[in-house]
Amino acid sequence: MKVYNFSAGPGMLPEEVKLEAQKDFVDYKGSGMSVTEMSHRSKWYDEIHMSALNDLRTLMNIPEDYYILFVQGGASQQFSAVPLNLLVKGKADYVVTGNFSGKAAKEAVKFGDIVVQATSKDKNFTYIPEGVRFRDDIDYVHICQNNTIFGSRYTARTYPVANAPIVADMSSMILSEEVDVTKYGLIYAGAQKNVAPAGLTIVIVRKDLVGHERADCPVMLSYKTQADADSLYNTPPCFTIYMAGLVFKYLLKLGGVKEIQKINEYKAGLLYDFIDNSDFYHNYVNPADRSLMNVPFVCASDELNAKFVKEAAENGLVSIKGHKLVGGMRASIYNAMPVEGVKKLIEFMKKFETENK
Ligand SMILES: Cc1ncc(COP(=O)(O)O)c(C=O)c1O
Repeated sequence: MKVYNFSAGPGMLPEEVKLEAQKDFVDYKGSGMSVTEMSHRSKWYDEIHMSALNDLRTLMNIPEDYYILFVQGGASQQFSAVPLNLLVKGKADYVVTGNFSGKAAKEAVKFGDIVVQATSKDKNFTYIPEGVRFRDDIDYVHICQNNTIFGSRYTARTYPVANAPIVADMSSMILSEEVDVTKYGLIYAGAQKNVAPAGLTIVIVRKDLVGHERADCPVMLSYKTQADADSLYNTPPCFTIYMAGLVFKYLLKLGGVKEIQKINEYKAGLLYDFIDNSDFYHNYVNPADRSLMNVPFVCASDELNAKFVKEAAENGLVSIKGHKLVGGMRASIYNAMPVEGVKKLIEFMKKFETENK
């Protein structure tokens, strides 16, 4: 059965990327080998690796004074790597707008003087704090650009103003909308939502911030280690990088991030409009702070929510159960979710409402 997968991550990949990978899987372009079994020092892999780096630079318009690093350990490993590499004065400010930024702050406390300057916990993370004041003598400000569980996101209105580099966790929105990389000191993102299968984390870091890591920073967590080796210090997740490369080429062919952003705005608009015009479904996120990628919604009772999740799956709309911190449902509509998938979901929501009102 054809299904639409609303999983928060790993998320859907574009159909044509999966078909291309299938074609290459056993014999990569006449090499006689699969990418899964070829040396990361081979000429074939070198080409895959370097073109993935270059294509990402083009897609996100990343200036030459930024390194792009392909690392492992998930976005969660960056919760430690960021303070280990960037704390020079030993101080950083965090904004906690959800589960993952909370985890990042908790981890950073081990390494320096960390202050959570604002949080939206008071309203179960349904908004992004505005006008937050930061200390003057800090190494960086850390934010999570899109809150996967709670369905909120930073926009120009809430973008932090600070006298220090901004570090952003973009795991659940990278490549979904245009961002001005020059406004950030460091961006990191686990690949498994908008980019590739799990196993790869992308780090984009301004070159002047690299090379000041603590003496006890493990070699594998040092940005300098990876920057000096073009992210080939050790064996990288070759197949995941190959898949990321295919997704980058797919996006370039589509017209870049600008084009996919239009589609994402359209998809999210359809779903939010439908929810807002219904008194059967509710989304509690401040409308100006709503995520384009993760759309949580609830019905009036836990029983109805459970029934919705079950019947949605029977209708080919899978992995739509919300995170336990929010309950209800969450439709993750990453880049690879076709417009048709969102329309199918809305049709199902209408039918479910009629049958259960
Ligand atoms: C915003 C955000 N940050 C961090 C993480 C953790 O990522 P990983 O599982 O790659 O460590 C996730 C995972 O869902 C996420 O959504």
